[in-house]
Amino acid sequence: MARRKRTTTVEFLCALGSERLNRYADASSIPTLMKGSAEEPVDSSQRKIGSLRTHDQYPADVDTAVDKARAEGLSTSRLHVGDGAENAAVLDDPVLASLEGHHAFLARRVGRAVTYHPDVATFCAVPRHPDTEDWAALAYLLGRGALADLFSASVVPPADWDPVFTVDGLQMVAPATTSSWPSAARDVVPPRDSEVVELGAHDLPAMVELVERTRPGPFWPRTPQLGTYLGIRHHGVLVAMAGERLHPPGWTEISAVCTAPEARGQGYASCLVQALSSRISARSERAFLHVVRSNISAIRLYSDLGFRPRREVTFRGFRVP
Ligand SMILES: CC(C)(COP(=O)(O)OP(=O)(O)OC[C@H]1O[C@@H](n2cnc3c(N)ncnc32)[C@H](O)[C@@H]1OP(=O)(O)O)[C@@H](O)C(=O)NCCC(=O)NCCS
Repeated sequence: MARRKRTTTVEFLCALGSERLNRYADASSIPTLMKGSAEEPVDSSQRKIGSLRTHDQYPADVDTAVDKARAEGLSTSRLHVGDGAENAAVLDDPVLASLEGHHAFLARRVGRAVTYHPDVATFCAVPRHPDTEDWAALAYLLGRGALADLFSASVVPPADWDPVFTVDGLQMVAPATTSSWPSAARDVVPPRDSEVVELGAHDLPAMVELVERTRPGPFWPRTPQLGTYLGIRHHGVLVAMAGERLHPPGWTEISAVCTAPEARGQGYASCLVQALSSRISARSERAFLHVVRSNISAIRLYSDLGFRPRREVTFRGFRVP
């Protein structure tokens, strides 16, 4: 299959996306003061794409979907969700929903403020309608001068919490059932000469190296403890990976999707996203993910696999005064 040449616009937008991802990753690595600790978790130790689309089509699709919903007076939070919409509200604050549920064993909490162990993720949360005490609790939990990484929550911190970063993103959800996956997604098979493997603790150095080369977004040493991470090795070398991150009830987020620059355009990322989606679906959950709004190539890839935008999000981080 002949590779298609990217347009200058797309190259520009992708570069912008990477730059913003880097900024997000860098901001998120600001050290935090720890107060209390979480329980130590136990370590678990020739795709064919059907209908390829033009490079400029998906950004338009995304805009159209969001604009159409607005024109119809719908909240974009109900976009495309279809079956399972009844429990989609947990996706409005997936960090809080995860820390109160599947990831409670990784949570550090003061009052109603909650965060992950800083080696796992810097994401933190307060209730949807926080009061002064909630912000004081979060400040105490994180420590003076620390980064309060609110992820996509729309809560507004007190005025003296200085913004550190603001990144526009998109939340996308997988089709409700495997039968509604596009044929392009159902046909995905591992690229030839490649091995899809479940990654474990011993793979961490290779995973970190790949993340540093590709900057898929925030990743910390214990991030793989959030869920299953799959990788593809080519001649023994890890060239692509993707994993499970946030885990609100009924949903699992796919994250850290990345492929080494020299291995791109061969279906590795599609294969891994599809493999994870299948696993998630097999346990009667549904996959979702977040992507930086300007990362056109990633949005196009996810769209090819049947993911659809649910809502626009803004990732925000603030400095605790
Ligand atoms: C985005 C990213 C993960 C894609 O990885 P990848 O392994 O190249 O992805 P795929 O090969 O599955 O798909 C990429 C393109 O190759 C095409 N392709 C896949 N298999 C192909 C094949 N056998 N022949 C020709 N083209 C093929 C796909 O259709 C897709 O085309 P598109 O750009 O027109 O949509 C990679 O560019 C990356 O690591 N980027 C930096 C990190 C990042 O932004 N991650 C996403 C965070 S949300």
